[in-house]
Amino acid sequence: MLNFEFKNPTKILFGKGEIAKISKEIPADAKILMIYGGGSIKSNGVYDQVKEALKDYEVHEFGGVPANPEYEVLINALQMIKEKGITFLLAVGGGSVIDGTKFLSAAANYHNEPWEILTKPVRTFEGEGMPFGSILTLPATGSEMNSGYVISRRETNEKLSTGGPGLFPQFSVLDPEVVRSIPKRQIVNGITDAYTHVLEQYMTAPSSADLQERIAESILISLQETAPKVMADNVDYDAAGNFMWCCTMALNGLIQKGVITDWAVHAMGHELTAYYGIDHARTLAIIAPSHYRYNFDSKKGKLAQYAERVWGIKEGSIEEKAEAGIKKLEEFFHSLDIQTKLSEYTQEFKGTAERVEKAFTDRNWLGLGEYKKLTPQDAYKIVEMSY
Ligand code: NZQ
Ligand code: ZN
Repeated sequence: MLNFEFKNPTKILFGKGEIAKISKEIPADAKILMIYGGGSIKSNGVYDQVKEALKDYEVHEFGGVPANPEYEVLINALQMIKEKGITFLLAVGGGSVIDGTKFLSAAANYHNEPWEILTKPVRTFEGEGMPFGSILTLPATGSEMNSGYVISRRETNEKLSTGGPGLFPQFSVLDPEVVRSIPKRQIVNGITDAYTHVLEQYMTAPSSADLQERIAESILISLQETAPKVMADNVDYDAAGNFMWCCTMALNGLIQKGVITDWAVHAMGHELTAYYGIDHARTLAIIAPSHYRYNFDSKKGKLAQYAERVWGIKEGSIEEKAEAGIKKLEEFFHSLDIQTKLSEYTQEFKGTAERVEKAFTDRNWLGLGEYKKLTPQDAYKIVEMSY
């Protein structure tokens, strides 16, 4: 097992009605900016619950953060933070709203051009960002209990990420009731994103970190078992709760400790969102199977372990089990009604591989993956295999 440090300071308030408690987590004299997306919180009752919980505070609002939060929009919120003398940020939404809030937390106390935070990139250390909390409305990204974020810039077709130990939410409310209003398309996106988060931290080489591997496998199995229950028309509360907690646990830092991690699927996937606006989760389902086939030799031990422990495939050689594991992964995505080829999302796919290769080369991303050996030319081939 590799050496590691582990600190996750986010306090989780899990369960029905927990939104009502947030005033206990925010200083009484805080000037709050409540940040949200396109309006789902107004139709599902979350907005009213938050306003009621904050009735004794000075609260300002910034709505309209889009999916794949955009720099151009967030810059207006940054101006509001400065004009109103805001001291505390409250994200109420999915990963996009929480990520946008993390960027604002970092940018509020940053004195140069804010986009530089993403391009340099600048990490935000403890005490440097503006304090913030979150009320999660869409289980998927894990942003509610981690310190990373991803911001898009439309004018340059870029989608870039950074973070730092100063950007954990102080608290996050996970009320499974919010799952009831989520459209099915976003439910399956959430399952796919969380599932791939586990794979990015797991599908490398077999390791000696037994507990992390078993926890990772448990999250995968739990997501598989929970998927049909949360895709049903009447979502059961406990199924919603299991789904939500799986998504949080998939990317709160725990399973990546002591092991090598990949993240190349996300790097390539982010390009597809930047070029074509494809939902984040779906880009991962496009890239992951090709990535595992392209890197079959270095990953086959773990792929076989995945096939065996997660899908119960006991027969065959390492290679046969590994290939069966990739097929099972594709079938799982298809069972969620998630397509796994780029051409199923856009007819404009020709030239994508060249574009990704050039973007990675220009950014000097010359070695991705768990061994930092995946070159822009390798990315070209993987993306081409995903057509
Ligand atoms: O904007 P509103 O009206 O709220 O609607 C949203 C949005 O249209 C809707 N929604 C959210 N909660 C709902 C709801 N609709 C009905 N009922 C509810 N309870 O869902 C739509 C999508 O929301 P969004 O926040 O964009 O989705 P998600 O949580 O999947 O976040 C995606 C973003 O997170 C980034 C992605 O790249 C993408 O930009 N990621 C962040 C990560 C992190 N910080 O750790 C890791 C991930 O890998 C990912 O890259
Ligand atoms: Zn993701």
